[in-house]
Amino acid sequence: MLKGRHLIDPMDLSIEEIDEVLELAQRIIREPERFSSACRGRILATLFYEPSTRTRLSFETAMLRLGGEVIGFSEASSSSASKGESVADTIRTVECYADIAAMRHPKEGSARVAAANSRTMPVINAGDGGHHHPTQTLTDLLTIRELKGTLEDLTVGLCGDLKFGRTVHSLIKTLARFRGNSFTLISPPELKVPDYIRDEVLARGGIPFVEYERLENAIASLDILYMTRVQRERFFNEDDYLRLKNSYILDAEKLKKAKSDMIVLHPLPRVNEIAVEVDSDPRAAYFRQAKYGMYVRMALIMKLLGVEA
Ligand code: NCD
Repeated sequence: MLKGRHLIDPMDLSIEEIDEVLELAQRIIREPERFSSACRGRILATLFYEPSTRTRLSFETAMLRLGGEVIGFSEASSSSASKGESVADTIRTVECYADIAAMRHPKEGSARVAAANSRTMPVINAGDGGHHHPTQTLTDLLTIRELKGTLEDLTVGLCGDLKFGRTVHSLIKTLARFRGNSFTLISPPELKVPDYIRDEVLARGGIPFVEYERLENAIASLDILYMTRVQRERFFNEDDYLRLKNSYILDAEKLKKAKSDMIVLHPLPRVNEIAVEVDSDPRAAYFRQAKYGMYVRMALIMKLLGVEA
């Protein structure tokens, strides 16, 4: 039962529960009108202490398309956080007004604090610093399931900022739980995946993985290429960012080496890492992925609120 639960880390969901959410999302895709008043009378709060386009807007439109209502803030400066209010107090207050909340915050662990201070309201982590982003992972899984037809036996390449990219951490942790997947990790040495992912998730789990520095050398064997942005806001030093920001640029030339049915994903926003010319390649799936994010959030909201269509 997902009703009343929080979603902070992708491990909060069992494989069966992930399947349940994806199946409902797929039903919503096929017959959206059947769900248009599923959440009538319910209120979602979006508490965004960090910038967002897709995550916040897809959460909000998800609730609106379910017939519910939305409140919230998209800048910490417009909330009492700017006066020094703690996340704990904010959550205890929001819980008086809303039925469910999605929160994004720059600090790792903040979503956990929010959940611990909510008595009745499910809290969804919409990104906590460089740590996790479980609803992006659900988005990625739905996209892969829709476009590749399976979440198993895939060779998954992740490229770019694997150190600070929270979407990468959540996605590896989750896809590693499905049978037969292997990982190709492509990053500069400074931006490799954190040790806890390499050692505890991959090595200890006996999950096959290889590491590359050059995208050209890795691309040919991939079923999925997950590109990421260098996470400027998490760097301590601007010079390091400037040195690393253009480490990878996927362009039409590099794509020639890829399989004809590989899909290119990106949580977005992109900066330079995918040339605009790639957008017209049928393998480019990142804008479709952004749309799947709305459907999967519709399904998640319904499950956590325990409402039926
Ligand atoms: C990602 C994030 O916020 O972690 N964006 C998103 O939610 N779609 C990726 C990023 O900001 O690079």
